[in-house]
Amino acid sequence: MTNAVEIRGLRKSFSDLEVLKGIDLDVAEGEAVVLLGSSGSGKSTLLRCINFMEEPTAGQIRLNGDLIGTEQGGRMRYHEADLCKLRTRIGMVFQHFNLFPHMTVLENVMEGQTIVLGRSKAEAKDKAMTQLLRVGLEMKAEEYPARLSGGQKQRVAIARALAMDPEVMLFDEVTSALDPELVGEVLKTMLQLAEDGMTMVCVTHEIGFAYHVANKVCFLHDGLILEQGAPQFVLQTPETQRVRDFLAGHSLFKLPN
Ligand SMILES: Nc1ncnc2c1ncn2[C@@H]1O[C@H](COP(=O)(O)OP(=O)(O)OP(=O)(O)O)[C@@H](O)[C@H]1O
Ligand SMILES: [Mg+2]
Repeated sequence: MTNAVEIRGLRKSFSDLEVLKGIDLDVAEGEAVVLLGSSGSGKSTLLRCINFMEEPTAGQIRLNGDLIGTEQGGRMRYHEADLCKLRTRIGMVFQHFNLFPHMTVLENVMEGQTIVLGRSKAEAKDKAMTQLLRVGLEMKAEEYPARLSGGQKQRVAIARALAMDPEVMLFDEVTSALDPELVGEVLKTMLQLAEDGMTMVCVTHEIGFAYHVANKVCFLHDGLILEQGAPQFVLQTPETQRVRDFLAGHSLFKLPN
Protein backbone atom coordinates (compact mmCIF):
# COMPACT_ATOMS: atom_id res chain seq x y z
CA MET A 1 0.00 0.00 0.00
CA THR A 2 1.19 3.52 -0.79
CA ASN A 3 2.05 5.65 2.21
CA ALA A 4 0.40 9.05 2.54
CA VAL A 5 3.82 10.50 3.37
CA GLU A 6 7.14 8.81 2.74
CA ILE A 7 10.35 10.51 3.78
CA ARG A 8 13.76 9.14 2.89
CA GLY A 9 17.16 10.46 3.94
CA LEU A 10 15.81 13.93 4.68
CA ARG A 11 18.48 16.44 5.61
CA LYS A 12 18.08 20.11 6.37
CA SER A 13 20.80 22.61 7.19
CA PHE A 14 20.60 26.29 8.03
CA SER A 15 24.03 27.56 6.88
CA ASP A 16 26.45 25.37 8.87
CA LEU A 17 23.85 24.08 11.34
CA GLU A 18 22.58 20.67 10.28
CA VAL A 19 19.21 20.27 11.98
CA LEU A 20 17.94 17.12 10.25
CA LYS A 21 20.58 14.50 9.51
CA GLY A 22 18.80 11.78 7.58
CA ILE A 23 15.18 11.27 8.56
CA ASP A 24 13.25 8.23 7.29
CA LEU A 25 9.57 8.30 8.12
CA ASP A 26 6.46 6.58 6.77
CA VAL A 27 2.99 7.84 7.53
CA ALA A 28 0.33 5.40 6.38
CA GLU A 29 -3.03 6.66 5.17
CA GLY A 30 -5.30 7.30 8.15
CA GLU A 31 -2.42 7.17 10.60
CA ALA A 32 -1.81 9.72 13.35
CA VAL A 33 1.90 10.23 14.01
CA VAL A 34 3.13 12.29 16.96
CA LEU A 35 6.60 13.84 16.90
CA LEU A 36 8.26 14.37 20.25
CA GLY A 37 11.64 15.80 21.14
CA SER A 38 13.20 18.55 23.17
CA SER A 39 13.20 22.18 22.10
CA GLY A 40 15.43 22.74 19.10
CA SER A 41 15.47 19.07 18.07
CA GLY A 42 13.99 19.95 14.67
CA LYS A 43 10.31 19.00 15.03
CA SER A 44 9.00 22.18 13.38
CA THR A 45 11.69 22.01 10.72
CA LEU A 46 10.60 18.47 9.84
CA LEU A 47 6.93 19.53 9.55
CA ARG A 48 7.91 22.57 7.49
CA CYS A 49 9.94 20.36 5.14
CA ILE A 50 6.92 18.08 4.59
CA ASN A 51 4.95 20.98 3.07
CA PHE A 52 8.05 22.65 1.65
CA MET A 53 7.83 25.82 3.67
CA GLU A 54 11.48 24.83 4.08
CA GLU A 55 13.29 23.29 1.16
CA PRO A 56 15.11 20.10 2.16
CA THR A 57 18.89 20.15 1.71
CA ALA A 58 18.83 16.48 0.66
CA GLY A 59 16.54 13.49 0.60
CA GLN A 60 13.17 12.70 -0.88
CA ILE A 61 9.56 13.23 0.11
CA ARG A 62 6.60 11.46 -1.47
CA LEU A 63 2.98 12.46 -0.98
CA ASN A 64 0.64 9.58 -1.78
CA GLY A 65 3.28 8.16 -4.07
CA ASP A 66 4.11 11.42 -5.87
CA LEU A 67 7.78 12.33 -5.59
CA ILE A 68 8.01 16.05 -4.85
CA GLY A 69 10.50 17.83 -7.09
CA THR A 70 12.58 16.40 -9.89
CA GLU A 71 15.92 14.66 -9.64
CA GLN A 72 18.67 16.39 -11.56
CA GLY A 73 22.38 15.73 -11.33
CA GLY A 74 22.02 13.63 -8.19
CA ARG A 75 19.96 16.13 -6.23
CA MET A 76 16.36 17.26 -6.03
CA ARG A 77 15.26 20.46 -7.74
CA TYR A 78 12.08 22.21 -6.80
CA HIS A 79 9.93 24.53 -8.86
CA GLU A 80 7.73 27.05 -7.13
CA ALA A 81 4.64 26.17 -9.19
CA ASP A 82 4.93 22.50 -8.14
CA LEU A 83 5.42 23.48 -4.51
CA CYS A 84 2.34 25.73 -4.59
CA LYS A 85 0.31 22.82 -5.90
CA LEU A 86 1.77 20.52 -3.28
CA ARG A 87 0.90 22.93 -0.46
CA THR A 88 -2.77 22.83 -1.43
CA ARG A 89 -2.68 19.08 -0.71
CA ILE A 90 -1.38 19.53 2.85
CA GLY A 91 -3.17 21.32 5.68
CA MET A 92 -1.10 22.98 8.37
CA VAL A 93 -2.14 24.42 11.72
CA PHE A 94 0.28 26.39 13.88
CA GLN A 95 0.53 27.54 17.46
CA HIS A 96 -0.75 30.97 16.37
CA PHE A 97 -3.87 30.67 14.33
CA ASN A 98 -3.45 33.76 12.09
CA LEU A 99 -7.12 34.28 11.30
CA PHE A 100 -7.95 37.43 9.34
CA PRO A 101 -9.39 39.79 11.96
CA HIS A 102 -11.50 41.78 9.46
CA MET A 103 -13.30 38.70 8.19
CA THR A 104 -15.99 36.63 9.86
CA VAL A 105 -15.30 33.03 10.82
CA LEU A 106 -17.17 31.86 7.73
CA GLU A 107 -15.22 34.21 5.44
CA ASN A 108 -11.96 33.02 6.99
CA VAL A 109 -12.84 29.40 6.21
CA MET A 110 -13.98 30.29 2.66
CA GLU A 111 -11.00 32.46 1.69
CA GLY A 112 -8.42 29.80 0.72
CA GLN A 113 -11.06 27.76 -1.05
CA THR A 114 -12.10 30.59 -3.38
CA ILE A 115 -8.68 32.20 -3.85
CA VAL A 116 -6.44 29.15 -4.04
CA LEU A 117 -8.76 26.37 -5.23
CA GLY A 118 -11.02 28.61 -7.32
CA ARG A 119 -14.21 27.24 -5.81
CA SER A 120 -17.45 29.17 -6.24
CA LYS A 121 -18.70 31.12 -3.23
CA ALA A 122 -21.64 28.77 -2.85
CA GLU A 123 -19.46 25.67 -2.81
CA ALA A 124 -16.92 27.28 -0.48
CA LYS A 125 -19.68 28.29 1.92
CA ASP A 126 -21.13 24.81 1.89
CA LYS A 127 -17.73 23.21 2.61
CA ALA A 128 -16.94 25.83 5.26
CA MET A 129 -20.18 25.15 7.11
CA THR A 130 -19.55 21.39 6.98
CA GLN A 131 -16.14 21.85 8.59
CA LEU A 132 -17.37 24.39 11.14
CA LEU A 133 -20.02 21.87 12.15
CA ARG A 134 -17.30 19.25 12.45
CA VAL A 135 -15.32 21.38 14.93
CA GLY A 136 -18.52 22.39 16.74
CA LEU A 137 -18.52 26.07 15.71
CA GLU A 138 -21.30 26.37 13.15
CA MET A 139 -23.09 28.83 15.45
CA LYS A 140 -20.05 31.17 15.31
CA ALA A 141 -19.98 31.41 11.51
CA GLU A 142 -20.98 35.09 11.42
CA GLU A 143 -18.79 36.08 14.38
CA TYR A 144 -15.45 37.93 14.09
CA PRO A 145 -12.32 36.20 15.45
CA ALA A 146 -11.82 38.83 18.17
CA ARG A 147 -15.01 37.60 19.83
CA LEU A 148 -13.84 33.99 20.07
CA SER A 149 -11.82 32.24 22.77
CA GLY A 150 -8.32 30.99 21.93
CA GLY A 151 -9.62 27.43 21.73
CA GLN A 152 -12.42 28.45 19.39
CA LYS A 153 -9.98 30.39 17.18
CA GLN A 154 -7.77 27.34 16.95
CA ARG A 155 -10.75 25.17 15.98
CA VAL A 156 -11.60 27.68 13.24
CA ALA A 157 -8.00 27.41 12.01
CA ILE A 158 -8.43 23.62 11.91
CA ALA A 159 -11.74 23.97 10.02
CA ARG A 160 -10.05 26.35 7.57
CA ALA A 161 -7.33 23.79 6.84
CA LEU A 162 -9.85 20.93 6.54
CA ALA A 163 -12.03 22.88 4.10
CA MET A 164 -9.21 22.59 1.55
CA ASP A 165 -9.69 18.78 1.57
CA PRO A 166 -6.06 18.07 2.44
CA GLU A 167 -4.53 14.63 2.05
CA VAL A 168 -2.53 15.14 5.24
CA MET A 169 -2.86 17.50 8.21
CA LEU A 170 0.21 18.85 10.03
CA PHE A 171 -0.18 20.27 13.53
CA ASP A 172 2.65 22.22 15.17
CA GLU A 173 2.06 22.66 18.89
CA VAL A 174 -1.46 23.91 18.30
CA THR A 175 -2.32 23.90 22.00
CA SER A 176 0.83 25.42 23.49
CA ALA A 177 -0.33 29.05 23.32
CA LEU A 178 -3.71 28.27 24.90
CA ASP A 179 -4.84 28.71 28.48
CA PRO A 180 -4.79 25.27 30.11
CA GLU A 181 -8.58 25.04 30.35
CA LEU A 182 -8.88 25.50 26.55
CA VAL A 183 -6.41 22.78 25.60
CA GLY A 184 -8.89 19.91 26.01
CA GLU A 185 -11.43 21.18 23.47
CA VAL A 186 -8.78 21.48 20.76
CA LEU A 187 -7.31 18.05 21.55
CA LYS A 188 -10.81 16.59 21.40
CA THR A 189 -11.26 18.04 17.90
CA MET A 190 -7.96 16.45 16.87
CA LEU A 191 -8.96 13.15 18.48
CA GLN A 192 -12.19 13.21 16.46
CA LEU A 193 -10.23 13.85 13.25
CA ALA A 194 -7.95 10.92 13.99
CA GLU A 195 -10.98 8.71 14.62
CA ASP A 196 -12.46 9.89 11.30
CA GLY A 197 -9.33 8.50 9.63
CA MET A 198 -7.56 11.76 8.80
CA THR A 199 -3.84 11.30 8.17
CA MET A 200 -2.07 13.53 10.69
CA VAL A 201 1.44 14.43 11.81
CA CYS A 202 1.37 16.28 15.11
CA VAL A 203 4.06 17.96 17.13
CA THR A 204 2.81 18.23 20.68
CA HIS A 205 3.99 18.20 24.26
CA GLU A 206 0.72 16.57 25.29
CA ILE A 207 2.03 13.11 26.10
CA GLY A 208 -1.48 11.95 27.04
CA PHE A 209 -2.65 12.83 23.53
CA ALA A 210 0.28 10.93 22.04
CA TYR A 211 -0.48 7.93 24.23
CA HIS A 212 -4.19 7.77 23.47
CA VAL A 213 -4.41 9.02 19.90
CA ALA A 214 -1.16 8.29 18.03
CA ASN A 215 -0.68 5.14 16.01
CA LYS A 216 3.01 5.92 16.02
CA VAL A 217 5.25 8.09 18.18
CA CYS A 218 8.61 9.34 16.89
CA PHE A 219 11.24 10.84 19.16
CA LEU A 220 13.62 13.26 17.46
CA HIS A 221 17.09 13.72 18.85
CA ASP A 222 20.27 15.06 17.38
CA GLY A 223 18.79 15.32 13.88
CA LEU A 224 17.55 11.73 13.74
CA ILE A 225 14.57 9.70 14.85
CA LEU A 226 16.01 8.05 17.93
CA GLU A 227 12.99 5.85 18.65
CA GLN A 228 9.74 5.21 16.85
CA GLY A 229 6.87 2.83 17.30
CA ALA A 230 3.51 2.29 18.93
CA PRO A 231 2.95 4.62 21.92
CA GLN A 232 2.81 1.69 24.35
CA PHE A 233 6.40 0.83 23.40
CA VAL A 234 8.01 4.24 22.97
CA LEU A 235 6.22 5.87 25.91
CA GLN A 236 6.01 2.98 28.35
CA THR A 237 9.12 0.96 27.63
CA PRO A 238 11.55 3.32 25.86
CA GLU A 239 14.80 1.75 24.74
CA THR A 240 17.06 4.72 25.39
CA GLN A 241 17.93 6.74 28.46
CA ARG A 242 17.37 9.91 26.41
CA VAL A 243 13.68 9.11 25.94
CA ARG A 244 13.32 7.95 29.55
CA ASP A 245 14.75 11.29 30.72
CA PHE A 246 12.42 13.23 28.40
CA LEU A 247 9.38 11.38 29.70
CA ALA A 248 10.33 11.63 33.37
CA GLY A 249 7.61 13.47 35.21
CA HIS A 250 5.06 13.21 32.41
CA SER A 251 1.82 11.47 33.14
CA LEU A 252 1.17 9.19 30.18
CA PHE A 253 -2.43 8.38 30.71
CA LYS A 254 -4.11 11.69 31.17
CA LEU A 255 -5.96 13.41 28.35
CA PRO A 256 -6.81 16.97 29.40
CA ASN A 257 -10.55 17.56 29.93
N1 LIG B 1 14.91 29.61 9.50
C1 LIG B 1 15.91 29.21 10.31
N2 LIG B 1 17.14 29.74 10.20
C2 LIG B 1 18.15 29.32 10.98
N3 LIG B 1 18.03 28.39 11.94
C3 LIG B 1 16.83 27.83 12.11
C4 LIG B 1 15.69 28.21 11.33
N4 LIG B 1 14.63 27.48 11.71
C5 LIG B 1 15.06 26.68 12.72
N5 LIG B 1 16.38 26.88 12.96
C6 LIG B 1 17.19 26.18 13.97
O1 LIG B 1 16.98 24.79 13.78
C7 LIG B 1 16.93 24.12 15.04
C8 LIG B 1 15.64 23.35 15.13
O2 LIG B 1 14.55 24.25 15.22
P1 LIG B 1 13.04 23.78 15.26
O3 LIG B 1 12.23 25.00 15.31
O4 LIG B 1 12.79 22.83 14.15
O5 LIG B 1 13.00 23.00 16.64
P2 LIG B 1 11.75 22.42 17.44
O6 LIG B 1 12.06 21.00 17.76
O7 LIG B 1 10.50 22.71 16.70
O8 LIG B 1 11.82 23.26 18.80
P3 LIG B 1 10.62 23.83 19.74
O9 LIG B 1 10.16 22.65 20.58
O10 LIG B 1 11.28 24.86 20.57
O11 LIG B 1 9.54 24.36 18.85
C9 LIG B 1 17.10 25.19 16.10
O12 LIG B 1 18.45 25.20 16.50
C10 LIG B 1 16.75 26.46 15.38
O13 LIG B 1 17.42 27.56 15.92
MG1 LIG C 1 8.83 23.88 17.06
